[in-house]
Amino acid sequence: MKQTLFCALLLAGFTVALPLFAADAPTEQTQRGKELFLHSPKGLACATCHSLEGNGNAIGPDLTRLASVVGPKGLVMTIQMSMTAYVQQIELQNGRSFPGIQKSKEGDILEVYDLSKTPAVLLHLKSSDVASMKPNTAWSHPPTSAGYTPQEFADIIAYLKFASTGVAKEVKVTDLH
Ligand code: HEC
Repeated sequence: MKQTLFCALLLAGFTVALPLFAADAPTEQTQRGKELFLHSPKGLACATCHSLEGNGNAIGPDLTRLASVVGPKGLVMTIQMSMTAYVQQIELQNGRSFPGIQKSKEGDILEVYDLSKTPAVLLHLKSSDVASMKPNTAWSHPPTSAGYTPQEFADIIAYLKFASTGVAKEVKVTDLH
């Protein structure tokens, strides 16, 4: 019995540790990107709204799938998007209107992040509290106006890819266009 438990723990340990062993070592570029992701002095740091490697808030979409499959050019375009896919303009029955992103809907209860607040605030709303949810026209993704240099975007993207795939490949400024 004890042995079975030990084996199970060993196996669980291996399964958790395996991806770590397979990952490249961080590079100077992925470290710079991580620093910007977590604590950028320009505008709101990405980690205010995105979670990677267990750091940050999962308010915006998870980035790991996108960063695994999309190249640097596609990623910089999405980061600088002007059209949003998830954010909506939400109007409540009481007249309040704000940009929000829906996190879940269970039965009659909606979980919505209010993006007019910094950091965003999670609201639990009843469907009957919501007057309308319309395509967003007012909210813009903070990095579009943060003034990142091409080198900083390259560093951030190198980190997004490293954190999502374990591969630390250099991203050059020329890869962005
Ligand atoms: C104020 C919160 C906030 C901050 C700060 C922020 N994001 Fe976002 N991000 C979002 C939201 C919300 C979306 C979803 C937008 C939409 O509706 O398409 C998003 C979308 C994205 C997407 C597209 C994801 C997809 O699946 O379509 C990427 C990539 C991304 N963000 C990367 C970043 C990076 C990199 C930074 C920092 C340089 C950053 N974001 C800063 C909230 C934020």
